[in-house]
Amino acid sequence: MTLSEGVGEQDLYAIGQEIVSILGEDRDKRGRKIHTLPITEKRFVARIKNPRLLTDITKIIKIKPPTKRDTVFSLYQSYPRYVEYDGVWVWYDPKTHVDVWGPTSDTIRNADFSNRSGKVYTDDVETIEELCCGSGFLGKYAAIKCKNAKELHLVDIYKKAIQCAQDNMEDLEKQKDINVSYSICDARKMAGKKYNLINLNPPYILRQKTIEGSAFEGISLSCDIIENGRDFVTEGGKIVVTTSSISEDIVQDAMGNAKGLKSAEILGKAYQPLKVNPVLNNKDWVSYLLGEKRLERMKGYDYEYGHTITIWLLTYE
Ligand SMILES: C[S@@+](CC[C@H](N)C(=O)[O-])C[C@H]1O[C@@H](n2cnc3c(N)ncnc32)[C@H](O)[C@@H]1O
Repeated sequence: MTLSEGVGEQDLYAIGQEIVSILGEDRDKRGRKIHTLPITEKRFVARIKNPRLLTDITKIIKIKPPTKRDTVFSLYQSYPRYVEYDGVWVWYDPKTHVDVWGPTSDTIRNADFSNRSGKVYTDDVETIEELCCGSGFLGKYAAIKCKNAKELHLVDIYKKAIQCAQDNMEDLEKQKDINVSYSICDARKMAGKKYNLINLNPPYILRQKTIEGSAFEGISLSCDIIENGRDFVTEGGKIVVTTSSISEDIVQDAMGNAKGLKSAEILGKAYQPLKVNPVLNNKDWVSYLLGEKRLERMKGYDYEYGHTITIWLLTYE
């Protein structure tokens, strides 16, 4: 399935084999049975207006008629999934990229607010790093948007995420003369090698006795990168980081302590559901977050909890 997110609307497509097995297009032009189609073939299925998540169940269940709704459900169960925004795409498949965190609404909003600001993907950016890269969407997006980009470095602590990012950079390297490299390690280890632009969509959900390294748990990584940002970016360099109201106060303290932070500007905010099942199904974790007054009941939308994400542009001396 391809999810193509525009500003305010999301188009869903069937691709390749899904056109045969879900949409029932199983005859070629001469009436012969076909079993599969290339992944480059796609058919529009549905448009969701103003989704708050890439998988916004409250909107999906309202799709009419029911056959179209069920088709969308089938597409969401089918992989590989391609996520495309503004002409840039990545794919992932849980069978190959086990437990890799694919792009979410946080990812797309990070790219969207950055692009619309006109301040992030500027002509002076030649070297780019995505820390905590997952599928690598933000690094790839930045590399395409910054017309003078020559170097892209992708970092994740999880080996399969780097495998996924590698799979997604193949076409980038064909379309642009760019040197792409990878590191599997704690992002903090990258201090010292400096880049013009760093993208960071990190874990941000606080937990008692945090064990770091997951896609969503803990806030100290974000704080460490922000506080020591001067060691990660070149003079005048930028870090674009996604934060959440769940831990915003802690991140802002880190900004206050950051050495050489010249400016901290908000590029955009979005109020959206918190939909991280392993957190919300864990009673101890939820009661900790509620006790700390870090989870708010979602108002006016059919999800239990909501939070506000903020996309920051940090510039260092
Ligand atoms: C919320 S996901 C974001 C993935 C990607 N940036 C995106 O926007 O789609 C966070 C990612 O951070 C990685 N991660 C967690 N702790 C890390 C650490 N200490 N160093 C490097 N990567 C880490 C996880 O493996 C995961 O891929």
